[in-house]
Amino acid sequence: MDELRVHSTLRLPDDSLARIRGVAPRIRLTSRPLTPYEPPAGMERDLADVEVLLSYHAAFEMAAAPRLRWLQMGGDGVDHLRGRPVLQSDVLITNARIFDAPIAEYVIASMIAYFRAFPRMLERFQRGRVWPANQWDEYAGQDAAGKTMIIVGYGSIGRKLARIARSLDMTVLATRRSAASPVREDGVEVRPPHALRELLPGGDVVVVCLPLTDETEGSIGEAELRAMKRTAYLINIGRGKVIDEAALLRALREGWIGGAGLDVHARTPLPPDSPFFDLPNVILTPHMSGISQGYYGRVTDLVCENLRRYMTGAPLLNVVDKQKGY
Ligand SMILES: NC(=O)c1ccc[n+]([C@@H]2O[C@H](COP(=O)([O-])OP(=O)(O)OC[C@H]3O[C@@H](n4cnc5c(N)ncnc54)[C@H](OP(=O)(O)O)[C@@H]3O)[C@@H](O)[C@H]2O)c1
Repeated sequence: MDELRVHSTLRLPDDSLARIRGVAPRIRLTSRPLTPYEPPAGMERDLADVEVLLSYHAAFEMAAAPRLRWLQMGGDGVDHLRGRPVLQSDVLITNARIFDAPIAEYVIASMIAYFRAFPRMLERFQRGRVWPANQWDEYAGQDAAGKTMIIVGYGSIGRKLARIARSLDMTVLATRRSAASPVREDGVEVRPPHALRELLPGGDVVVVCLPLTDETEGSIGEAELRAMKRTAYLINIGRGKVIDEAALLRALREGWIGGAGLDVHARTPLPPDSPFFDLPNVILTPHMSGISQGYYGRVTDLVCENLRRYMTGAPLLNVVDKQKGY
């Protein structure tokens, strides 16, 4: 029986590695974990005989991995592979798409924290110990019910988010690349990307769930931000560079929009002197919206299922379209 050489740079716990080895006796799995953000210097040394790579990274020359057939990413975005040889090669790339539930929950948490003034209450009341003169006047927040959410990029995350938002009695509108004309999907009106400008003035919450591609980079700029309501809350869980950050900074300082929840940033790590840290109308997180304690179980389920498919020649889950870039 031919050995199947699999190498992982994912940070998988031992029980996950054991589950992957347990998929079939012919699997020979090696593991040298890298953090998702660690510069992947030297990963080539492990790839000479590898057919299947489980990784967050693929910054190597193809000559270092002559037998590589399939790259399973531990994350979703493949924007960091732009210009990398693997994207020009015939290696099959699959991504994770296991972030729909944790990110949908994160978006709802951010929206409600903003609507219900949690940051201000934690700062002034809990940390400052100041009982308000009139808490109804000072802290009465906004209702989600009756508001409109616009989801920019109606993929796996957007669809999960829409279901929760609709259960909160919100109206949900969305855009997706392949929508040639307006369609209704599960109670959500889905429009083509060019319709976004018309939708924005009606949005109370605008959630950017876009991959970073040549098309989407900088696609939320001054015109889009100025088209939003002055009270709108903009949440970005896609990629930082989809939004023109200089324009966003002005929008937040000058009140073109009400506030922003930003999990992704044009520069990662976000530098300590970033002006976004000083804005009272921003809820910032360090690119972790997709990571909950269930991550390792979910990514292991996916890897095991895709390995089974790979070994039987069945179509793999979550194949990345290299032309489209997601
Ligand atoms: N913050 C985090 O921790 C985190 C974690 C996971 C993912 N992400 C980011 O979130 C992105 C989306 O994830 P996903 O799992 O939902 O991906 P997905 O299922 O591939 O969905 C991407 C969606 O974006 C749409 N799209 C692409 N270009 C567009 C455009 N120009 N205008 C409007 N819609 C466009 C696609 O349209 P079609 O359906 O028509 O193709 C698709 O619906 C990922 O690519 C990644 O960058 C971030």
